[in-house]
Amino acid sequence: MADIRFDGKVAIVTGAGGGLGRQHALELARRGAKVVVNDLGGSVDGSGGSSAAADAVVAEIKAAGGEAISNGSSVTDDAGVALMIKQAMDAWGRIDILIANAGILRDKSFSKMDMADFELVVNVHLMGTVKPVKAVWEIMKEQNYGRIVVTTSSSGMYGNFGQSNYGAAKLGIIGFMNTIKLEGQKNNIHINAISPVAATRMTENLMPAEVLEKLKPEYVSPGVVYLASEEAPTGAILTAGAGAFALSRIYETEGVYLGEGGLSVEEVRDNWAKIADPSGQQAYVTGGEQSGKFFRKLQGG
Ligand SMILES: NC(=O)c1ccc[n+]([C@@H]2O[C@H](COP(=O)([O-])OP(=O)(O)OC[C@H]3O[C@@H](n4cnc5c(N)ncnc54)[C@H](O)[C@@H]3O)[C@@H](O)[C@H]2O)c1
Repeated sequence: MADIRFDGKVAIVTGAGGGLGRQHALELARRGAKVVVNDLGGSVDGSGGSSAAADAVVAEIKAAGGEAISNGSSVTDDAGVALMIKQAMDAWGRIDILIANAGILRDKSFSKMDMADFELVVNVHLMGTVKPVKAVWEIMKEQNYGRIVVTTSSSGMYGNFGQSNYGAAKLGIIGFMNTIKLEGQKNNIHINAISPVAATRMTENLMPAEVLEKLKPEYVSPGVVYLASEEAPTGAILTAGAGAFALSRIYETEGVYLGEGGLSVEEVRDNWAKIADPSGQQAYVTGGEQSGKFFRKLQGG
């Protein structure tokens, strides 16, 4: 099969001044994409800011013979997001790919967590994904083409001590994807999620150096770049790290029909093992499939 190329395609990568985003931007540019490198350039907790980080990645792309533009906006700032889109459209007239990668951490156990830190993390990850997607959506619809990759986390899908704010935001992003994957389909807009594990400043204090060495961001980017390609599926959650790749799905068990008459709390308790039985479980593509199952069971199917 032919190599995957992005010649003539325009990509925006948010939070691409360092870590994973930088690597995604470099790989897209290496394969021919013109790239807007966005990064607020703040610290890992979201404080501060400068366009120096984005500028440096643009310089790297240009030094390698690629095309790139720097944008230092925050993904939560409406005017900044609008500017990022305008820069891409003015320079290249289209936007084919959006990688929503920007993010911060404000970890604390839920008891100790300030609500301000909860709201900030949800805002940066969730609204900082939604706003750039909203800003490219009509452009992609008009083009009848778009590839969007959002960034989730095992903390959202499975939990991680001290990350209730981050986990809520990261699974919120999956909820967002699950609906817009349906709404984008008729205009050939595919949206997928990456759940990475990589050695970046976000994780540098969490693991020993020899483990971090095996978790280079460049081991994640091939998955992201595949999800940004014409051949990408839609609605997938790709997990990636250390060179390993897998899919994560939300499964629902077949469950039981307990009937309408005499239904009680105790019946739910007494049938818990059957409700939880994984045999025949399925990953639905739309919410309506769940209701469909309920009605099938009601009719004795
Ligand atoms: N590293 C991991 O193991 C891991 C695991 C799961 C998920 N993630 C996610 O991957 C993404 C990239 O993280 P990373 O590990 O490369 O960390 P990172 O801190 O190196 O990269 C995040 C980048 O986003 C930028 N950023 C932060 N807030 C921004 C804003 N408001 N506007 C624009 N840019 C902003 C930062 O300046 C930074 O360069 C994040 O969404 C993170 O939650 C990372």
